[in-house]
Amino acid sequence: MDQVSIEMSSTPRPTMVKSKSQLSLRRSLTITFKDLAYSVTVKKKKMQILKGVSGTVTPGELVAVFGPSGSGKTTLLDILANRKESGEISGAVLINGNEIDDDYKRLCSYVVQEDVLLPTITVRETLRFYADLKLPKSWTEKEKHERIEQILEQIGLSHRADAKIGGVLPGGIVLRGLSGGEKRRVSIGCGLVTSPSIVLLDEPTSGLDTTSAMAVMKTLVELTQQKSVTVICTIHQPRSEIFKLFTKIMVLAEGRLVYYGNRPVEHFTEIGFPFPDQTNPADYILDAVTTIKEEGRADEIADRLQSSYLDQANQESSSTLTQSQLGIINASGKRKINAYNNGLFTQFLVLWKRTGLDFIRNPSNCLVRFAVAVFVGLLFGACFSGLGMDEKGVQSRSAVLFYLVINMILQPFASISLFISKRTLFNAERASKLYHTLPYYLALMFFEILACIGTAFILGTITYWFADLNPGADKYFFAMAILTLAHLAGDFFMLIISCITVQVDTSFAVGAGVATIYQLFAGFFVPINALPKSFEWLHWCNFVYYSFEALMHNEFVGETVNCGQLACPTGRDVLINLGLNNRGKGINLIIVSSFAFAFFTMVFLCLHYFHREKR
Ligand SMILES: Nc1ncnc2c1ncn2[C@@H]1O[C@H](COP(=O)(O)OP(=O)(O)OP(=O)(O)O)[C@@H](O)[C@H]1O
Ligand SMILES: [Mg+2]
Repeated sequence: MDQVSIEMSSTPRPTMVKSKSQLSLRRSLTITFKDLAYSVTVKKKKMQILKGVSGTVTPGELVAVFGPSGSGKTTLLDILANRKESGEISGAVLINGNEIDDDYKRLCSYVVQEDVLLPTITVRETLRFYADLKLPKSWTEKEKHERIEQILEQIGLSHRADAKIGGVLPGGIVLRGLSGGEKRRVSIGCGLVTSPSIVLLDEPTSGLDTTSAMAVMKTLVELTQQKSVTVICTIHQPRSEIFKLFTKIMVLAEGRLVYYGNRPVEHFTEIGFPFPDQTNPADYILDAVTTIKEEGRADEIADRLQSSYLDQANQESSSTLTQSQLGIINASGKRKINAYNNGLFTQFLVLWKRTGLDFIRNPSNCLVRFAVAVFVGLLFGACFSGLGMDEKGVQSRSAVLFYLVINMILQPFASISLFISKRTLFNAERASKLYHTLPYYLALMFFEILACIGTAFILGTITYWFADLNPGADKYFFAMAILTLAHLAGDFFMLIISCITVQVDTSFAVGAGVATIYQLFAGFFVPINALPKSFEWLHWCNFVYYSFEALMHNEFVGETVNCGQLACPTGRDVLINLGLNNRGKGINLIIVSSFAFAFFTMVFLCLHYFHREKR
């Protein structure tokens, strides 16, 4: 089909790359997709989302994907970015005529629709995080620094480099930071750190005011014109000025490609949709496609398109491919790319640094927990101060030890929302192959464990001192060790629940139920020997019971008790009266440690295998 270029941009010539920090990673890449089809089976019914979508985008082109909601725009980008993890894909995606390989993730950046950024760190720190994880190890500090400054300039945020991203922190605190448009530009900046040759963006301007949208689009135009990057983005109803920036338009309707080229208005006019004067071409195209969809003509138009100029265009663009390369076109378009840019240890160090910053800057992470520990410790002190070893003292000592353990399993409720709130960010970053689950989990747990140790020691020490519990360094440190381990086991247990249930409300409800059962079968309210036989297993698998037993052993065994009329002349008898086991306290320590370790491992497995981002 004869096509005359209208007001849309023309393709600039590629430019040469000068130094490492000036994008030495970049190569000019042409992306070709041939007969892409995608289907999913929902409730045993197969849904064809994309069908026979083909095209070629060359370096320096800025291509917009248009289409009504649900037409398959995001699906197309997901497949081009090699990020579709469910459903069946057929067809091929070729880069300069070759099948995509491990290098693809370095060469192609995908900026998804949602800005998933950590609110507590600054713009520069965010870009640095990406640079540390995505740039090759050979890059020096200076080169990375130069690269980040360059990106800041490119996205027009040099003046906001040290501003925090901002947003809603877990617990509802709002951290003031960037505007929506600035956040969008940071997301784009993150995608540019590796100097990709292909940039895919899903609705880069949605939710932005016209000025911000224009600023984002100008960044993309610069990329194509000055750096000859290949850019494809989906977009909803751009204003005329933005529409003019695109070199080509790809129009989808019900998963079919109904137009691809630089003369969309002429095309739709020719097939029976007159162009009204003074109309935004983007609105006109969308109206035309909606009518095509409603009239059920999408297949007919797409078929005609395929057999006319699209074939011609593809033949032209494919003519440089060798015969063997053309053979690859028929292969399956689905390729798994698993390699990360850095080893697990480097990933851990980078994540450790970011988690540390987040930890320090979000007061709810530790300060609130420590403050609560001080408050509860003082309260315990007021209720149980200066306990003796008489009958009343023994009861109070047992009670304070029990409530110390219970507090250690109730405090972890604070971690649920913190953990869940980071889930979206983690899922998105893991899906873009920034890091593996293990370094993320270890970095997060490093600080979580520190917070648990701090909380257990603060609460335990204050209570120990006020209540005048069994003196002696060995007794004190043993008690602190048990409280810490009980706290860790409780914390990890809550995290397992939050991994499985995902929603904060559900996690709280399930957690509260389980915590109640733990308390009931720990041997304090109902002596173990008074429990119905059928419920016995509930105390055998109850780490609260072992923790309480260890603390009771530590407190009473070997002590002389003045029980008045009660027959309990030794501390050991206090344990026997409650039906507590007579095993050594060291064994209880090992059992509680094993619970903590088992839960720790289970959290990792849940995090790794449950609720992955399914695109
Ligand atoms: N993995 C999947 N499972 C089930 N349905 C899916 C899946 N992926 C895509 N779809 C469906 O395919 C259709 C196209 O989705 P897609 O997100 O690509 O549309 P879109 O053109 O980007 O729409 P919008 O403009 O609203 O973002 C939708 O109906 C969506 O529900
Ligand atoms: Mg979409």
